[in-house]
Amino acid sequence: MRIAIIGYGKMGKEIELYATQNAHTISYIIDFENVNEVEKINSSNTDVAIEFTNPLSAVKNILTCFENKVPIVCGTTGWYSELDNVKNFCSKHNGTLFYSSNFSIGVYIYTEIAKYASKILNELSGYNVKIEETHHTQKLDSPSGTAISLANNILPFLQKYKDWKKPDNCDNNYLPISSKRIDDTTGIHALIFESNADIIEIKHTAKNRKNFAKGAILAAETFYNKKGIFTMSDLYNTIV
Ligand SMILES: NC(=O)c1ccc[n+]([C@@H]2O[C@H](COP(=O)([O-])OP(=O)(O)OC[C@H]3O[C@@H](n4cnc5c(N)ncnc54)[C@H](O)[C@@H]3O)[C@@H](O)[C@H]2O)c1
Repeated sequence: MRIAIIGYGKMGKEIELYATQNAHTISYIIDFENVNEVEKINSSNTDVAIEFTNPLSAVKNILTCFENKVPIVCGTTGWYSELDNVKNFCSKHNGTLFYSSNFSIGVYIYTEIAKYASKILNELSGYNVKIEETHHTQKLDSPSGTAISLANNILPFLQKYKDWKKPDNCDNNYLPISSKRIDDTTGIHALIFESNADIIEIKHTAKNRKNFAKGAILAAETFYNKKGIFTMSDLYNTIV
């Protein structure tokens, strides 16, 4: 595939490395210094764009790709309040978008385990639940997109919680998500069930960014020639 990389930071560089090691070519690399070149990405020079920028830039880049008939895989987090608008624009332009807050298949499986644990522990009234996430200090959004997605996936199974909140304005009706920022931490997510008698902790630790790049390229390979909006459950169903 001819891949346009939008956002040449930590993830953009990881995408370039994994793509070229796997016989793909890079049609464009877009970052701040050539940001206007995103308009030049089109279906005659590019098969798919892979976008890892920041929450303020992602939606504009997605819409530009729809307009230019280029399928887009977006890993940027923190823009999902705009998802309904993006969905409407995607159907209007008959576009292709694959998005996920976490491209690691391990995190997808972790979330499935978390859903199962929440379902069975919900039956036992003595457990309080919380989510803790830790990332590197340059991360702009907080809580992480993965922690929010984890919360949204388990909340339907946890009857005592109405929604999630950050701990500083959280009462017993809300599932708390706390965030820590520590240098050189790729991403740690822990789901903790605590009773008077014990603590059950389910934890995922990303050792490096390679798995995110691998998942994003696999998503691009699998969905670039399909129409519509896709996410990790669609990818997982194609590989099991
Ligand atoms: N989905 C996943 O699996 C996954 C994994 C890691 C990171 N992320 C998310 O991906 C995003 C990027 O992460 P990162 O670690 O690579 O960040 P980063 O800060 O290292 O890189 C972002 C890059 O985007 C560039 N940029 C900003 N606006 C731009 C624009 N309009 N056009 C082109 N380039 C632009 C910046 O100059 C920077 O080089 C974040 O939102 C992060 O949370 C998602």
